[in-house]
Amino acid sequence: MKLTDRYGRVIKDLRISVTPRCNYDCLYCHPLGLEMTDPPGTVTVEDVAHFIQAGVLLGLESVRFTGGEPLVRKELPAMIAAARAAGVEDVAITTNATALKKRLPDLLAAGLTRVNISLDARDPEVFRALTRGGDVEDVWEGIEAALEAGLHPVKLNAVVIRGMNEGEVAPLAELTLDRPLHMRYIEYMHLNNAPFEEYRAQFVPGSEIKARVEAAFGKLEPVATDPSSPARVYRIPGAAGTVGFINPVSEPFCSNCSRLRLTSDKKLRPCLLTELEIDIAWAFAAERPVEALVDAILIATDRKPAYGNTLPTQRQRVMLGIGG
Ligand code: 5AD
Repeated sequence: MKLTDRYGRVIKDLRISVTPRCNYDCLYCHPLGLEMTDPPGTVTVEDVAHFIQAGVLLGLESVRFTGGEPLVRKELPAMIAAARAAGVEDVAITTNATALKKRLPDLLAAGLTRVNISLDARDPEVFRALTRGGDVEDVWEGIEAALEAGLHPVKLNAVVIRGMNEGEVAPLAELTLDRPLHMRYIEYMHLNNAPFEEYRAQFVPGSEIKARVEAAFGKLEPVATDPSSPARVYRIPGAAGTVGFINPVSEPFCSNCSRLRLTSDKKLRPCLLTELEIDIAWAFAAERPVEALVDAILIATDRKPAYGNTLPTQRQRVMLGIGG
């Protein structure tokens, strides 16, 4: 079966935030300060299994675990295994990779198929400033572990922020020359409740990011991709990997959106960029949770907005609580 919303978009990708905790404090993601514990009511392995089983009944094809930082949940391998046991073939995580080297054997044994790793800078000082304290060396170890394990594709995410890491755009692209790494530059979305003027001053359009890559490496060659993918993908001539541009602000891709998001406190978010949330704790607690979650997913799909709002606005929930 195909799960289709009222605008004809096929919903096939579930993003599940498994915790509000993170070991990094990236400034584009949330205001300063982090949660130290998972509050009562945070999704359990059993909840995640039921949710994915419901998704599979509705034709879901891929699951991505996010956070916070998903690797801070010790049960993450069990969640991945539950997704695979439910029949999902494409099971990915979005991670800051600081614990990836250590956790990868268990994740692979559980059936993980792909990783997206956040890497906003190669320069240690720039990286530390953006992540408010992170050490880029830890991330490198994670990236190398993912490549050595043969995971494919290994995607790297960079949010580009003026005055902070626009000088890192070309050095990050350079990483794709001799390694099968897939660099994705993401336009900065106002999802962290930053002061509006500060946000506007720091926003860098994807066109400028691409021009920076081309100024350093020459004209990029387009690479064909799945039309539902938000990234416009290119290759530096002769490179082993690719560079891609995800431009949710300057070139919104709402008409191709195939996603539903579950937050770790059991709300369905039909759209990253609108505040609409549907509390589905009742479905997890139902006598027949899988059937109830099918209902919950159908309700959220029906309410999926046509367009998100990228204008700066005070948000109830920042990116940290939604997941990538
Ligand atoms: N704008 C754009 N992308 C963001 N991410 C987090 N916050 C933002 C934001 N404000 C992306 C990061 C990270 C993923 C989880 O979400 O690239 O890799």
